[in-house]
Amino acid sequence: MSTRPERYSDIFRLRGAAYDAAMTDWPQALEEEMDYLVDLLDLVASERVLDLGAAGGYLAPAVSARNAAYTCVDSSEVLNGFAQQRGLDAHLSPLQALPFKAQHFDALVAQAALHHETEWNTIFCEARRVAKPGARLVVGEVAEGSPVAGFLDVFVDRHNPLGHSGRFANDAFVDAIREAGWTIRSDFRREYCWRCPSRSALLAFLSRLFYMPALDEATLIDGIHEHLGGLRESPDGVCMPWGMRVIVAHNPA
Ligand SMILES: C[S@@+](CC[C@H](N)C(=O)[O-])C[C@H]1O[C@@H](n2cnc3c(N)ncnc32)[C@H](O)[C@@H]1O
Repeated sequence: MSTRPERYSDIFRLRGAAYDAAMTDWPQALEEEMDYLVDLLDLVASERVLDLGAAGGYLAPAVSARNAAYTCVDSSEVLNGFAQQRGLDAHLSPLQALPFKAQHFDALVAQAALHHETEWNTIFCEARRVAKPGARLVVGEVAEGSPVAGFLDVFVDRHNPLGHSGRFANDAFVDAIREAGWTIRSDFRREYCWRCPSRSALLAFLSRLFYMPALDEATLIDGIHEHLGGLRESPDGVCMPWGMRVIVAHNPA
């Protein structure tokens, strides 16, 4: 039986340092996913971007590379602390009550932030409150019933001492965005890879990211085969098939 804490911020009190180490030691692992989401924000120089559930602010380099201003918010003291140490405009707050004035941001993004949340509607209403008229919202989330959802709720659940149980993106998730007043521009599934230089690097990355301290390489390769269709290997490194449901919306007024 899992001893999973009730509050998400308590989970990251236990595993936030490992999560941040994974994301900072292997910055190329999610590069394709992060660049893709930030490209969808369609940024113009000097626009203001809010990263919702940003953890340590890993989208900041991609946003800054497009000459936009990056702000992030997260309810984990540990992860928000890492973002602050990096000198980012990082705010410790629940997404349900954002510490920003109305109509402040040009673009908002949420990357894999909402699959432990029950209050989708409140969060998307609050996101809309701080969005300028015409602002874009890009949400990339694990899709309900997808191979990634199986990997997380079966494989990670088995190997993470805290367990894993997601509330993944389904049609009710998209309805919550729409009901908050956002206009949905597109809603689709995107497949890509998480990449590491080697099998051993992938093991080290995933062990930290998903807090699976006793995982060994053979078990990981089997799990990737069973849930994600198998690891792809090339002279450049390894590619673990991954994917998400992507929703692009805008604030009509
Ligand atoms: C799986 S992590 C993803 C972090 C980051 N976006 C990434 O892709 O690496 C989910 C993050 O969302 C934050 N989060 C989830 N629900 C939240 C809420 N209601 N308010 C603030 N932060 C929240 C968690 O603290 C955590 O840092």
